[in-house]
Amino acid sequence: MGDRYAVIGNPVAHSKSPWIHAEFARATGQDLEYGRIEAPRDGFERAAEQFRAAGGKGLNVTLPFKEAAFRYCRRVSARARGAQAVNTLVFNDDAFGDNTDGVGLVTDIEQNLGFELKDKQVLLMGAGGAAQGVVRSLLDAGAARLVIANRTVAKAEALAARFPGVEACGYQALAGERFDVAVNATSAGLTGESPRLPQAVLREGMLAYDMVYGRDTPFLAAARLAGARASDGLGMLVEQAAESFFIWRGVRPETRSVLERLRASR
Ligand code: ATR
Repeated sequence: MGDRYAVIGNPVAHSKSPWIHAEFARATGQDLEYGRIEAPRDGFERAAEQFRAAGGKGLNVTLPFKEAAFRYCRRVSARARGAQAVNTLVFNDDAFGDNTDGVGLVTDIEQNLGFELKDKQVLLMGAGGAAQGVVRSLLDAGAARLVIANRTVAKAEALAARFPGVEACGYQALAGERFDVAVNATSAGLTGESPRLPQAVLREGMLAYDMVYGRDTPFLAAARLAGARASDGLGMLVEQAAESFFIWRGVRPETRSVLERLRASR
């Protein structure tokens, strides 16, 4: 039997991670099993311990457990500390936590979409867990300016304060500003809503990226209407998985064909 991995979350039934990792394993000739664990909302630690005691080698952690996973780990990477959240657990002598969400976003934007972030003006919308998970990576990619905008301005300010040079504001304060990239890390798209951006923030030539995938959000529709290039977050999903796979197996899987097949299957 191959090494065992799983995605843990609640809900987790619709997670694409088992399919993605099975494809990576097949393509790289790695002998592993990858399942899914739906833990009770107050039962992350217990479920993780059980999986580990049964010989599990690693977990991907999804909503709502990324912060619980961060607290659970004995050791964490610098990028997990930046995110205050863990999406990849490695079980050896202890539990090591990493976070591949930010790298997944940057890789999708730079390599799949061909849009370099270095020296760019970047707008990050949202100040919850999804936004927090990618700030460090956007800075590391060399963004010239990073502005975090959020409906509740105090939350944007609290997040920005953890990263020197990062600015914070509400959406209305963005009037007249010019960005090369706008990343929507809010959950607004999940309820058919969009952050209320002032006119002209979305414009031709810019990249509009929504971390939500599997649906055309009002943000992406508005971006396209304004002539911007629009992308959902499916590529980020695949790239964060590839980085987790690399951490566990030491092999970097090819992602393009996996992403193409996921897009085609929708
Ligand atoms: P996640 O882990 O997905 O980031 P979260 O921590 O609950 O989830 O954060 C949700 C984010 O989406 C927040 O930034 C929230 O804004 P507020 O902090 O002002 O609540 C944002 N959000 C959710 N629905 C929104 C909407 N309709 N318009 C604008 N922002 C929205």
